[in-house]
Parts: sequence; C-alpha cells; structure tokens
Amino acid sequence: MYLCPEPKKVEFNGGYYRFEVGTEPVVNTVITPLLSQKESYRITIDENGVSIEAADKAGVYYANITLKQLLMNYRGCLPCLYIYDEPEFYYRGFMIDSCRHFFTVDEIKKMVNAASLFKFNKFHFHLSDDQGFRVEIDSYPNLTTIGSVRPSSDFGRGENDPTPYAHYYTKQELKEIVEYCRERYIEVIPEFDVPGHTTAVIASYPELSCTGEKIEPRTTAGVFTDILCGGNPETLKMIYSVIDELLEVFPGKYFHIGGDEAPKNKWNVCPKCQAKVKELNLKNTEELHGWLVNEISLYLKKKGRKTICWNEAIRGGNIEKDNVTVAWWLDKTKASVEWANAGNPTIVESFTPYYADYPYGMHSLRSVYLYNPRKIKGLTSLGAASVVGIESPIWTEYIRDFETLTKMCFPRWLAVADTAWNGNDNKDFAKFLKNTVFFCEILREYGITAASEKEWNILPHSRASQTIRFFKNSLSKDFVKNLLKKDED
Ligand code: ACM
Ligand code: ZN
Repeated sequence: MYLCPEPKKVEFNGGYYRFEVGTEPVVNTVITPLLSQKESYRITIDENGVSIEAADKAGVYYANITLKQLLMNYRGCLPCLYIYDEPEFYYRGFMIDSCRHFFTVDEIKKMVNAASLFKFNKFHFHLSDDQGFRVEIDSYPNLTTIGSVRPSSDFGRGENDPTPYAHYYTKQELKEIVEYCRERYIEVIPEFDVPGHTTAVIASYPELSCTGEKIEPRTTAGVFTDILCGGNPETLKMIYSVIDELLEVFPGKYFHIGGDEAPKNKWNVCPKCQAKVKELNLKNTEELHGWLVNEISLYLKKKGRKTICWNEAIRGGNIEKDNVTVAWWLDKTKASVEWANAGNPTIVESFTPYYADYPYGMHSLRSVYLYNPRKIKGLTSLGAASVVGIESPIWTEYIRDFETLTKMCFPRWLAVADTAWNGNDNKDFAKFLKNTVFFCEILREYGITAASEKEWNILPHSRASQTIRFFKNSLSKDFVKNLLKKDED
C-alpha cells in the first residue's frame, strides 16, 4: 500500500470492505473533542464501511486525502484497518516565484492541486521582485503598467531577445487562486518583498529609491543595490497601501514582507537614510532595516495578521518579536540561530537541500527526504522546538516553462511533504521511493510531469557534471560580469 506522507500509525485488521466498482464507499464522519491535536484524524475501515473521526474540519479534510490515496491503491475494496494520524508541523509550505517567470492561473492551480494531495497547507506566492511586479494594484498603478513589464526575457543568457516580458495577475485571478486553495485547506501567503528585490517597484516610482534614478525592471538574475529608500516616508506609505490592497485579496493569517538580499550600499550614503538612522538613534542601516520590519509588522498586527520575513531582515538584531516569524534559508551570521534558540517561530527552508530550483545532482531526492530541519548547527532543544514548519521554494530565473517547473518540484516536494507531516524520526528511504514511484504515475493525471527516476539520486560521478551543466546553462558571461561589477558597487 502506497501512501505519502505515511500516516503516523496504520494497523491492518484482516479482511476487506467491498463496494461496487464505480460507486463511492460508505463513509461516516464525525468531529470529536476526543482528538485534541489540531488537524489529527482517525480512519477505521471494517466490512461495513469507513468511519472518520477528526479533531477539526482540517482533520476531516486530511482523512479524506488519505482515503483518496487508499482508493488509488485498491479497486472496489478497501482493507479493514485502523489509521491514526497527526502532523508534526503546522506550517507545511511550498513557494512559487512567478516574478522571474510567470505561471498562469491554471498552472498555479495544477501545482496547488498536486501539493494538496500530499497535505501541504501553505502556498507562499512570491509576487514581487526585481524582474517583475506581478499584481494589479489600484493605488499605485505604475506597479502594474511599468513594474510588470521587463524589456526582454533572455535572463542574461545573451540571446538578445528583444520581446518585452509582460505579465501580472488581476485581483480577480488571485481571488480565484485563493478560493481554489481554501477548498484544499491551503492558505495563500503573498510576498511583497521589501526593501530589496524592488527594482520593478523603483522602475515604477523612481522617487522611492535613495537616488531617484530612473531604472528598468531587471532582465538578469542577481542581487541589486537599488533598494527602496529606508529614510523616505513615502516608502512606508506605498508599502502600506500595497499591503492594504493585498490583504483584501489574501485573507490568511500570514503576510510575507521579504527582507532578503537588501545590500545597504545606497542606504549607507543616502542623506535621508542617514538622517533616519540618527533620528531613531540607531547604530547603522542594518538596524534601520530592523526598524522598517517592525513598522510594517506593527501595521500588519493591527490588521490582525502575522509577519514572515527572510532571515536577513533580523540582522540588525532590534526586531520586535511578538508578531514575526523568520523564514530561514541561508544565514552566515548567527542571527537566525539566536532567534530560534530564544524560542521565536522559525520556518526552515534551507537552501541546501530545500531549494527546488537547483539540480537533483546538488539537492538529490534522498538528501531532501533525509534532511532534518530541527538539526541545524547551533540549535538548542528550544531552538529545535521553535521550528514551526518547513517550506520548499522554487525560484524561476532559469525555469521558463511549466514542465521544467513540475520536474524540479516533483518528486522532491513529496520528500518535503513527508518531513512536513512526519518530522524526521522514522525515515525509511526505500519505502519512500516505492511510494514515490507510485505517486509520480498518479501525478500525470494531475497534469504534473515528475522528473524521471534516473534523475532522483544522481550517482556521485554524474553529480558534478550535471551541476556544471546547470550553471553553464544558467550563467552567461554577461551575468558573471554583472555579478563581478556588483561586487565593486
Ligand atoms: C532568497 O533566496 N533570496 C530568499
Ligand atoms: Zn535612502
């Protein structure tokens, strides 16, 4: 019997419940206070039918997902059994970047539908970046008319493709995605990434940068020094306005404010930023970033929402903790370890191995499956207990089409889903592989092409060549030159 994630406890009682092929099994469902753990459920199958008991509506939903998977295994019968199940983590996330390359509403729905089969419950939607702002915003219309259009789409590979790349979601489309996710017990968490990764915003409103210089949305990957001015009150005014509009579309608990890769080169020499540092009696511009996070987080808190930010946003060390969850992807400083060890909520989305945009030769299926998010170097037992969940992002600088997107994510997202639901205590890779083969076949019916089995765990001798091939395809001479230039900035 193939299930993914594996339920916590499965006991076979012998015999089968039989029903006519093509008809639905008889299912009795109750929500019971006897189950105290949120999202937990029990399934009992005897000769007469299926009984579901659950702690809450989400538990009923996950019981039905397990039942759906059981029915994929059998025809016209189900084995008599008892299942008890509950998740390890309440945050079980996947992220899609629709900025570098855009994916249609139908494509997003396919990804969501596939993820829901494995009990993910958070869809982090990366909607703003240097290469495109992808949401219709009424109060700042240039974000859509200018910010969603980059002059070309070759991403620095030197193809000199002159076709503008112009895409955004209307609010109506986003509401449709939110509703589609809600039906699957998935919260959509929009990300408005500030103050870095905002070239598209600055292209739309140049007066919001430190220099006011006119620039265009980027056509290459990278980390850029054009970031929103931290000392200009207009910056927060714009951020609040965008947030207000997004909160109307996204009704969930969390809002992601980015905060990654925001080099302070311009802040360090900007009179407005420096005046703000002085006015607030701060030590430096990292603390100014912390102040900005606190202001936005307080704003979100007043609206009844919780803030998520990438780990760089807490480097200033002056974060008001009560409303913030840190998304830990890569931290060369000790800030994230200290954050978690102080008992503050942390989502682990470690670059290695959870970044699904990197080749299987770097982040193999096995490494994703076996990775223990509570065992990050330096985490105390309180730190480990502060990990509220995990997430696997797919960044799309080098992912131009839907089939590549699905192959990068699947089956690695099955491995992420297993850890999200079960933690890391009872791993059985051989069993997981069998489940994975089974579900990759099923995923075809979901419109998802998974990577072929020979790619999942590339042998060591091919790993280097696959990785080199990946970078060779991704990084053009222009891109490398650009990177080197940035170092000089
Ligand atoms: C990130 O990968 N810049 C969060
Ligand atoms: Zn400034």
